[in-house]
Amino acid sequence: MNSEKVEIFDTTLRDGEQVPGCKLNTEQKLAIAEKLDELGVDIIEAGFPISSPGDFHSVSEISKLVKNSKVCGLTRANQKDIEVAAEALKFAKRPRIHTGIGTSDSHIKYKFNSNREDIIERAVQAVKYAKSFVEDVEFYAEDAGRTANDYLARVCEEAIKAGATVLNIPDTTGYCLPEEYGEKIKYLKENVKGIEKAVLSCHCHNDLGLATANSISGVINGARQIECTINGLGERAGNTALEEVVMILKQHKKLKLYTEVNSKMLNDMSVLVSDLMGMPVQPNKAIVGANAFAHSSGIHQDGVIKNRETYEIIDPVEVGVNASTIVLTARSGRSALAYRFKNIGFEVTKNELDFLYQEFLKMADRKKEIDNNDLTAIIERITRKI
Ligand code: KIV
Ligand code: ZN
Repeated sequence: MNSEKVEIFDTTLRDGEQVPGCKLNTEQKLAIAEKLDELGVDIIEAGFPISSPGDFHSVSEISKLVKNSKVCGLTRANQKDIEVAAEALKFAKRPRIHTGIGTSDSHIKYKFNSNREDIIERAVQAVKYAKSFVEDVEFYAEDAGRTANDYLARVCEEAIKAGATVLNIPDTTGYCLPEEYGEKIKYLKENVKGIEKAVLSCHCHNDLGLATANSISGVINGARQIECTINGLGERAGNTALEEVVMILKQHKKLKLYTEVNSKMLNDMSVLVSDLMGMPVQPNKAIVGANAFAHSSGIHQDGVIKNRETYEIIDPVEVGVNASTIVLTARSGRSALAYRFKNIGFEVTKNELDFLYQEFLKMADRKKEIDNNDLTAIIERITRKI
């Protein structure tokens, strides 16, 4: 069986920018959009045009700039939102309107004070109206994660009949377990009439740390688009991290799924977004964290020095990191020390190494990390004594 493509829908500039304190100006958004386009994402969600004049302007400028990716604008299910989004997207080569409404009983009751039938009607009207402006209309069933599957299937069926080309199934509150979310996608694949005309999309939040696992479960069960953000930024605990899903599909060829993202740009992309948003990346973040390719314990270091594959499942070069690092700490062993001495130009014999190692440990117990200057200082001190 041939591999199938999973489209990558980046929402760093919309859901990602909803992080408190991460507000970007138009110039910063353009810099990110240009790089996302180069990275090879299929869709860039540029913003929520009706939300503010600044966001409208950004979506409009991004639409003019982006060459390859589709450019998407978010709306609620009402005419004004859709008209404003269509206007902001009018310069896009490949515009998409992303419209939708809450479908869980909780959203229907508390947000809309409405009922299931009325919600379907509003969804249909929104999709039809969006379709009068653009060919490519994505429908989101907000809080689909907590929406009953049979009702969700009816909503999806009506959205497809109204012209939706993509159906977004958001786990808005990050509540689902991977198995449940996968079953939901499978249920829709099997029970929605006309589903072959639309792409199912995963949009998972990370409230329980399951966003990536849920998205992968979604594509295993038939979804063919993942909505995600650089560094996993997003509302509350964030969204599915783009770099994680891209590398999971790349490393697990058995899934027979691929993306067209250039993984070698992932590290630079992460740094750009982190710098512009003023949002540091946690050091142990998968793929793009400072420690993602750093080895600090003696046993691991010895293995990696002998063969990288002993403790690394990804070649760092594949994500744009030059090489893995051997960090010297009090947990490091002789082999890491010899390796680092060699790197800075000192070939040491076994006896010398035994002696240097004791000196190193004394220093490492005092300092958190030993750098090349410290190693040179150890050598100089010992040479002076001799
Ligand atoms: O999490 C969510 O449900 C959303 C929708 C607006 C797509 O971000
Ligand atoms: Zn979201």
